[in-house]
Amino acid sequence: METLTLSEEIRERVREARSLVAFSGAGVSRESGLDTFRGAGGLWEKMRPEELATPQAFRADPEKVWRWYAWRFRQAAEAAPNPAHLALARLELEEVFPSFTLVTQNVDGLHRRAGSRNVLELHGTILRAHCNRCGQSRDMGEAIAESSEEPPVCSCGGKYRPSVVWFGEALPDDVFAQAAEESASADLFLSVGTSSTVYPAAGLIEVAKRAGALFVEVNPEPTPFSRLADLRLAAPAGEAVPALVDALSRHR
Ligand code: APR
Repeated sequence: METLTLSEEIRERVREARSLVAFSGAGVSRESGLDTFRGAGGLWEKMRPEELATPQAFRADPEKVWRWYAWRFRQAAEAAPNPAHLALARLELEEVFPSFTLVTQNVDGLHRRAGSRNVLELHGTILRAHCNRCGQSRDMGEAIAESSEEPPVCSCGGKYRPSVVWFGEALPDDVFAQAAEESASADLFLSVGTSSTVYPAAGLIEVAKRAGALFVEVNPEPTPFSRLADLRLAAPAGEAVPALVDALSRHR
């Protein structure tokens, strides 16, 4: 993407901003070769979330659910962070803004692998597994190496499951509370690669907008919040985010 020119009004807000929250979804990892969930070619276009991503599905067919997450784990492990992940890490590590928080719905771990540090994983992580009875946590890769066709059994007799948040499950309280707090005090709220349709995560956009944040949306497709965006970049994240980060750095 060529050099991004920001309006004088936005430049002014960027100059004064002290805190930035970046909010990401599956679209930020699309150019790393990972499928999104919705839209053309999305996972939920091909598979039924009720059969794969709910506690009921795990009770009904733990082998099927475990094999599917083992497949997603391998995909994430084989993927590499793309320019969007790297640009967001740069924005944090170069301390372009005094406060930077990355709130992600993704479980793939690519933001951390890109170097991001202050990451809030709203929907958990596919890199960990925990016992569905005693909660004992372990490395997902080791668990899959032990048993790839069915969930390994814990010493307490429970079954290990991926440490992701399934539909119908609550988000980790502390993580969501911190994300809401950061969103409520954000001067800039950057939403990247999310359909903004899954709650309570999508509600963070409303929290930030209501608190007066400058709202920037990066998504080739419109979302229910596009009309509220102060700046909308209808382009792939791998192109738009590096250009945006350059522009933000230039105007600080
Ligand atoms: N760059 C930026 N955005 C992209 C790109 C790209 N290269 N490719 C696709 N997108 C956009 C799509 O237009 C879509 O709006 O990414 C969005 C992905 O939306 P979803 O598939 O709905 O993913 P997400 O918003 O992260 O889903 C939220 O739903 O299934 C659950 O727990 C899962 O965390 C997930 C949650």
